[in-house]
Amino acid sequence: MKTIIYSQSHDLTIPAQIIQNGGIVACPTETVYGLCANALNETAVSNIFKAKGRPSDNPLIVHIASIDMLDQLVKDISPMAQALIDKFWPGPLTLIFNSTNVVPAIVRAGLATVAIRFPSHPIMQILIKQANVPIAAPSANVSGKPSPTNARRVIEDMDTKIDAIIDGGSCEFGVESTVVDTTRELPIILRPGVITAQMITEVVGNIKTDSFDKTPISPGMKYTHYSPNAKVIIVTGDNAIKTISNLVKANPTAGVLLPQEYKEQFINIPYISLGSENDLAQIASVLFEKLREVDDLGLESVYTIYLPQVDIGEAIMNRLIKACGNNIIFAGG
Ligand code: TXA
Ligand code: MG
Repeated sequence: MKTIIYSQSHDLTIPAQIIQNGGIVACPTETVYGLCANALNETAVSNIFKAKGRPSDNPLIVHIASIDMLDQLVKDISPMAQALIDKFWPGPLTLIFNSTNVVPAIVRAGLATVAIRFPSHPIMQILIKQANVPIAAPSANVSGKPSPTNARRVIEDMDTKIDAIIDGGSCEFGVESTVVDTTRELPIILRPGVITAQMITEVVGNIKTDSFDKTPISPGMKYTHYSPNAKVIIVTGDNAIKTISNLVKANPTAGVLLPQEYKEQFINIPYISLGSENDLAQIASVLFEKLREVDDLGLESVYTIYLPQVDIGEAIMNRLIKACGNNIIFAGG
């Protein structure tokens, strides 16, 4: 299949028609690029799973562009869910609701619940409005790879596999939406993101936070994720930087993925800079792109450190820990 690339300035009439006709279009959102198809068309949705190589037991998020679209998709909206909608939509927050039968089972991977997101990105909003259907959209990467945050990385993974790609430049936030289950008494954060636990607590009073990385309530959490081809190794503890320095010097195919502050300690070592460790939002916005740059450099392994797990740092470390597949070294302290 020939994949057509649309630049930002194009009007979206044709991509919207592709969606209506059951095709797949990659589109930017404020978090990462999504692989979009008509959520109500089972064949189109099954083609998303094929293009990504995604296991069929990992459900998709349904994207809407108006609150009116929500009513046909979900059974009930609790006061807690309504408060989160009022505060954070449109934006990088996905909410889990009890689903109606309007949402095909394949979208939900057979669950009784459905994940809904109202993205704030204007291109995604226009695409949904013009196609006039709810849009199922996972991140636009091959399953297991870091999510793409610009069109070049979507092309890398999806060229010839989908109908079209809308190039909308780099995504603002760079990590996927926060996923919150609203079907129980207390909201549960299933995937941390830009909307932090503290921001959610401020709106709803109390949340349950212990879920991610333990019981996979969210089916996607059990799979290896976000990994470049290179092996990612996290070194933690007081001697982390010194230990990385020793390990990387002994290994000619290794590099480092670190905040810029450590650069002078790694002369003549492949150094992929995450930006300043004092700006975690900036690090989040480039994290997936930098993980892909590790492979561009042909490195076989890359060393990184723990960043503070506060605010957006929680989302950063959630992704990095998944990317390292439990390769964690404790270096003193
Ligand atoms: O920012 C985002 O959310 C991006 C953009 C494109 O919108 N999308 C995205 O989709 O990250 P995806 O498919 O890569 O991740 C969806 C996550 C998975 O962890 C999946 O298991 C979870 O949401 N999920 C979807 N439906 C669910 C449900 N009914 N119950 C629990 N978890 C669900
Ligand atoms: Mg994904």
